[in-house]
Amino acid sequence: MNSVLVASNRGPVSFTVSDDGVLTMKRGGGGLVSGLSGVMKDDGVLWICAALSDGDRGAVRQAPGGRLDQAGYDTGALRMLDIPPATFHRAYNAVANSTLWFVNHLLYDIPNAPLFGTKFQREWESYRDYNGAFALALAEEAGHEARVMVQDYHLTLTPAMLRAERPDLRIAHFSHTPWAPPEYFSLLPDEVAREVLEGILGADHAGFLTGRWAGAFMDCCRALLGAEVDLTGRTVTHEGRTTHIGVHGLGVDGVALWERAHEPDVESNMAALREQVGDRRLIVRIDRTELSKNIVRGLVAYREFLLAHPEWHGRVVHLAFAYPSRHDLPQYREYTASVQRCAQEIEDEFGTEDWEPLILNVNDDYPRSLAAYRLADVLLVNPIRDGMNLVAKEGPVLSPRATLVLSREAGAAAELGAHALMVNPYDVTGTAIALHDALVMPEEERMRRRELLEAAATALPPQKWFAAQLDALA
Ligand code: G6P
Repeated sequence: MNSVLVASNRGPVSFTVSDDGVLTMKRGGGGLVSGLSGVMKDDGVLWICAALSDGDRGAVRQAPGGRLDQAGYDTGALRMLDIPPATFHRAYNAVANSTLWFVNHLLYDIPNAPLFGTKFQREWESYRDYNGAFALALAEEAGHEARVMVQDYHLTLTPAMLRAERPDLRIAHFSHTPWAPPEYFSLLPDEVAREVLEGILGADHAGFLTGRWAGAFMDCCRALLGAEVDLTGRTVTHEGRTTHIGVHGLGVDGVALWERAHEPDVESNMAALREQVGDRRLIVRIDRTELSKNIVRGLVAYREFLLAHPEWHGRVVHLAFAYPSRHDLPQYREYTASVQRCAQEIEDEFGTEDWEPLILNVNDDYPRSLAAYRLADVLLVNPIRDGMNLVAKEGPVLSPRATLVLSREAGAAAELGAHALMVNPYDVTGTAIALHDALVMPEEERMRRRELLEAAATALPPQKWFAAQLDALA
């Protein structure tokens, strides 16, 4: 039996299966996995995640009790749940990614969406079943009075379900996303909104990345549940139980990241990029191709910058790395297409025989991304809304001279805002001006800010972030 357990939708690894049935394992992406992977190989911590693909299901079926580590994979203690594909699809794509993600990132095109009808009711049932499958697995694996750390918007119902099964456990929930203000959160059908809030309140400790998201959650509990909320003491009391609200601003492990970024595969990617761009200055962005990352407005801002500053033509290149994400959702496929279209327009408008103004890369290539960080003069992070944004924190560790242009709507703005050039993500003219200001910033100021950014970005590395939440359950 285990004394510390973690549950999340995406696990540290995923598998692809070739036509002849050969499985290949690869590292999972996104903020949650980056944060947790570093802390999870400790003895006694079991990670439970879902099988996301046919490759994952193939691997699970060959592993005793879904334990991939016991099937010989170097994953740390890991159990993958083989949830029926149709249930998984409705829970992950329709509810988690198309509904809860959209609500908390304020992504809806309101005149047309959301629309909650009978189809949604079935999807919601699947989300319940999927949360129930996690609760059941956790109840099976957890030792007496074990501590259980449930992660993110995929698993909002699991804490309350698990508490009903196993009242002896100490349960935490952590949201890696923003939280919506009550007037937007209440777009959800009333009973769904209640179930989500009450699901998380099933935990003893509910963690958020910034005070802003924690405050929004507490506001929702008060407005929608009539819960008793202590904003300063950070507690929510509902139906006789009190949940403590914590703010844990996940940072990066500067040493491990630096070491990884100085391995030979990164060095060779740097050489290749330098060969491609020459000694031109570099504006870099690295994202999942994700609606909330605001990539199209970022490209439009770069275009405005080029229009306003012909003196930079031929002297700057924008490296935009937008690796694939959630391609089962049509909105994401369309978004990727608009990113590509917009990039092509910029190339057609400004490109010359010896100058490629923009290099868009839509393949996932981790060493190449690390190489781009190291070469960056400007790092552009302009999300519409973001739980934290670890790119904004990784950049200052790896880029010896980059200036950060940062959206005020990223969670990272709370800690990094004072030392970055802050932008309103909708204001592309303002963003274009910030890109220029970043490029012409005097060397001394650039270095001073970078040092402060690095210190803030590494203040709470994953190990400490995780330990603080475990302590909160002690
Ligand atoms: C965000 C979420 C994570 C998620 C990641 C990647 O960081 O908070 O829970 O894993 O995005 O998204 P995906 O849908 O590919 O797991």
